[in-house]
Amino acid sequence: MTKQWWHDKVAYQIYPKSFYDSNGDGIGDIPGIIRKLDYLQDLGVDILWLSPCYPSPLADQGYDISDYYNIDPRFGTMEDMEQLIAEVKKRGMYLLMDLVVNHCSDEHEWFQKACQEPDGKYGKYFYLRDKEEGKLPTNWRSAFGGPAWDDMPGTNKQYLHMFHKKQPDLNWENPQVREEIYKNINWWLDKGVDGFRLDAIMNIKKALPLHDYAPDREDGLCNIGAMLQEAKGIGEFLNEMRDQTFRVHNAFSVGEVFCAKPDNLPGLIGENGYFDSIFDFNAAMFGFSPNGWYDCSPVTPDEYRDCCFESQKRAGSIGFLANIIENHDWPRGASRYIPEGDRCPESKKMLAALSFLLRGIPFIYQGQELGMENMAFTSMDEVDDVSSHGEYQVALKAGLSPEDALKAVSTFSRDNGRTPMHWSDEANAGFTTGSPWLKVNPNYTAIHAAAQVHDPDSVWSFYKKLIALRKNPVYKETIVYGSLEPVWQNRHNLMAYYRKGDKTILVIGNYQKQGQDVELPAAYQEILLNNYSDVSQDGCTIHLHGYQALALAF
Ligand code: GLC
Ligand code: CA
Repeated sequence: MTKQWWHDKVAYQIYPKSFYDSNGDGIGDIPGIIRKLDYLQDLGVDILWLSPCYPSPLADQGYDISDYYNIDPRFGTMEDMEQLIAEVKKRGMYLLMDLVVNHCSDEHEWFQKACQEPDGKYGKYFYLRDKEEGKLPTNWRSAFGGPAWDDMPGTNKQYLHMFHKKQPDLNWENPQVREEIYKNINWWLDKGVDGFRLDAIMNIKKALPLHDYAPDREDGLCNIGAMLQEAKGIGEFLNEMRDQTFRVHNAFSVGEVFCAKPDNLPGLIGENGYFDSIFDFNAAMFGFSPNGWYDCSPVTPDEYRDCCFESQKRAGSIGFLANIIENHDWPRGASRYIPEGDRCPESKKMLAALSFLLRGIPFIYQGQELGMENMAFTSMDEVDDVSSHGEYQVALKAGLSPEDALKAVSTFSRDNGRTPMHWSDEANAGFTTGSPWLKVNPNYTAIHAAAQVHDPDSVWSFYKKLIALRKNPVYKETIVYGSLEPVWQNRHNLMAYYRKGDKTILVIGNYQKQGQDVELPAAYQEILLNNYSDVSQDGCTIHLHGYQALALAF
C-alpha cells in the first residue's frame, strides 16, 4: 500500500455553529475556531473537518449552500477563513471543508435562474418534471419526511429533493454541473484547504429513467435506498472528480457512504478507490428501523463489538475506514453505546480506546473528548433539527403519544450532538456571552473542558494519551498499518483485539460494570494504556475492573 500523508493522522470534526462564539451573537464562528486552535493542538489532533460554513439559509444547518465561493456572514468573512487556513498550517495541522454537492440551496442562483427559465441552461442543472395534478413524478420519500418532489415556484414544473425541499438535487448527468463543482473544489484546494468530507455523495447518481418503487409505509412512498441500489455508473462521476481535483492536489477525501457493500470496498477505498476513506457507520446504523426513529432499538455491548469487527473484517487491508463514535447527525456515542446508568469517565474512556485503536483513521467529534452526552429535551420547541421534526410527526402518526414521540426523538435527535460545546462552567458553558442559538446541555457544569484539560484523569486527558499513543514512534507503524485480529469474540460484554505489525498490541475492554477475568496467552511487556491506576492480576490472569480498558504490548 502506498503511504499517504493522512494515514497516520487523527481528525477532529468541528460543527462551527456550536463550537465557540467570538462575538456574543449566540452563534459559533470562524474567529471562535481560531481562538480554540491551541486547545485542539494541545489535544494532539491533526486534521480539522469543518461542517459547512458557506452562505446558507440554514434550512439544514448549512448543508443547503447558496454560494459555494463564500463564507456565511454569521460565521465570519473570507479573510477569517484565510486566517484560519494560515493558523492551521502554522500549527502543522490540516483543514478539510465539507463538500455538499448532491444538492444546493433553493436560494442558490442556479436554482433561482432555473425557476426563471426552467427550459434554459439552469433548468438542466436540476431534476425537473412537468407537474401533473394529483400525481408525483415518483413516489420517493425525502430523507426528512414527505415526498421528494415539490412545485418549482413560478413554473409548471416540480423538482427533486432527496433531503429538505430547500435542497434541490443537482443533476450530475449534466457535464456543466460537474465542471462547476470541480472548479469550486479546486478553488478551495488552491486556497490551501487540504481536502474534503463528501456529503451524501452516493446520492449523486440516480437510476434513470426515474421511476416508482414499492411503497414501504402507509404514506404510499418509498425510501430512496431501493433507487440508489439500482443506480449504476456512479464510478464514472467519482473517478472523474478524483482525477480532476483531489489527485491533482494530493488532497484527502473522506466519503459519507452508507451503502458500502463488501464487494464495493476496493472500488471505494482501495489503492485506486474513489475516496481515500469512508466513514464506518455500521454501529451507528445498528438497530435503525425503516419505520423511523420511534421504532429503533438500542445497541448492546456485544452488538457494538460485532459491528466494529464486521467492518474491520470487510475493510481488512484494502484501505482505511474513518472510525467515528458520533458526528453531527447521530446521538452522542456515550449515550448510545454505554448502557444507561453506566455513563461515567471509565466507560467513556473504554469506548474511546476500543474505537480509537481500530485500524483506520480516527475522527473525534467536538465534545466527544469531554464525554459529552445526549440532551434531555423537554419539548419539541427546544429542538431545531429538521430531521427530528420530521421523525416526531412520523412517531405521532404511528400512534405514539406526544410524550413518547418526544422521548423517541430525544434519543436519536441530531441536536444531541449540536448543542453548544462545553468550554467551562461559566454561563452557557462559556460558549457565548450572548444567548446560544440552541439550548446548552444543563450537565455542562459537570462536563466541561476547563476542568478536564488540567485533570490527568479526565476523559479529555485520556483522549490526549490515545492520540499520543497513535503517534508514539515505537508503536505507530503497528497502530496505523498493522492488521486487526479479534480475540475472545464470543465472550459476553468483552471486546478485545490484537493489532499486529512489527509490534503486537492487545486492546481489551471490559464492556460492563462488573469485573471480568481474562487469560493472557503470555506475559505482556508494557502497559501502553489503562483507564484505571492499576492492573489486578495473578500471573497471566487479569481481573479486569468494570469498564477497564487496557492496551498491552507483547
Ligand atoms: C449529510 C449530512 C447531514 C445533512 C445531509 C444532507 O448526511 O451529514 O447533516 O442533513 O447530508 O446534506
Ligand atoms: Ca458569533
